[in-house]
This record gives sequence, C-alpha cells and structure tokens, in this order.
Amino acid sequence: MVSIIVAIAENGVIGDNNSLLWHIREDMVRFRTLTTSHPVIMGRKTYESIGKPLPNRTNVVVSRTVSAIEGCIVTDSLEKAIGMFPPQEEIFIIGGAQIYRQAMDLADRLYLTIVHRPYEGDTSFPLPDPGQWLETSRREFPHGEKFEYPFTFIDLVRRR
Ligand SMILES: NC(=O)c1ccc[n+]([C@@H]2O[C@H](COP(=O)([O-])OP(=O)(O)OC[C@H]3O[C@@H](n4cnc5c(N)ncnc54)[C@H](OP(=O)(O)O)[C@@H]3O)[C@@H](O)[C@H]2O)c1
Repeated sequence: MVSIIVAIAENGVIGDNNSLLWHIREDMVRFRTLTTSHPVIMGRKTYESIGKPLPNRTNVVVSRTVSAIEGCIVTDSLEKAIGMFPPQEEIFIIGGAQIYRQAMDLADRLYLTIVHRPYEGDTSFPLPDPGQWLETSRREFPHGEKFEYPFTFIDLVRRR
C-alpha cells in the first residue's frame, strides 16, 4: 500500500530553497508516529534537505545522479523503489514535489496537513481533488503549542 504524507500551505506551497517553511511540533510528531517502522521513499533533494537517514525506518532515496548514500537504499526510479516492498506493507512517500507528483496516481492513502496561511515558496503541490479522495479523519487545531496559526490533519483514502 502506498501512502503520501505531505504538509501544504493553503496556497499549495510546500517548500522554499530546499527547506520547509514552518516548524509545527504537532506535525513532526504525527509524521514520526505514522512513518516509524515503515519504509519511507523520498527524492534526492528532500533527502539532502533532511541531511541524514530518518531513524527506525528503511530510507529509500530516488535519484538518477547519486548511486549510494550511507544508511539509505538508492534507486533510479520511483517504481523500483515501491517494488522493493510487499504490497501489504504501508510505504510512505515523503516528498518532495517531483516525487509527490509522480506518486499521486499510485497512492492509496493521503495524510495531509493543511497550514491555514499562505506562504511564499518555490515548491508547491496541488490540494487533492475531493472527487477522487474520501476523507476518513480530520483534526483541526486553532494553533500549535508553539505555532500561532491554525492547521488541520486530514486522512484520505482513494475512492474506488
Ligand atoms: N511540506 C512537505 O510536506 C514537504 C515534504 C518533503 C519535501 N518538501 C520540500 O520539497 C522541496 C523538494 O522537492 P523537489 O521537488 O525540489 O525535489 P524532490 O522531489 O525531493 O527530489 C527531486 C529529485 O529526485 C530525483 N528524481 C525525481 N524523479 C525521479 C525519477 N522518476 N527517477 C529517478 N530519480 C528521480 C532527482 O534526483 P537527481 O537530480 O539526483 O537525479 C530529482 O532531482 C523542498 O523545499 C522540501 O523542503 C516539503
């Protein structure tokens, strides 16, 4: 099973200059809780923005230019990355924009965080088409413990 996990500003922006634009502790905890002990697949640029393999997860980096990264499996296609794991395993696509775009048609589940504020950035991702996705869970936060703007966690499954 292929899941996408992504945090999106209300204007679709997800990053700038190869970094995230916000630090929301609650979102980091959600990301860690959902992905720990599952494989995570990311593009080479997202790997570089994180800078190290995520602990307690099999880290797969997709790249056509880099062939080895310590602590990660590197492969030259998204399909090969997904094909490394049995279908019953929940695999998380963790970005960035190039990889999300290619994974959208392959994904069964979406774990979204919507940050209710526009951001300026060079990387964006379209909000999902509600006709294709069924919402299964929603949690709204008026603000975080240390983040002053509202945000929402939304889980979706593909309509079949
Ligand atoms: N808000 C969020 O939830 C979130 C999550 C993750 C990332 N981000 C942000 O997204 C931005 C990075 O996204 P991005 O779109 O620039 O880069 P990316 O998707 O992380 O990585 C792109 C790289 O992946 C490789 N790649 C892509 N498609 C491939 C394919 N089909 N086969 C083989 N390799 C492939 C290429 O690497 P090579 O050039 O080495 O061939 C390409 O340059 C950053 O700002 C980051 O902070 C945001």
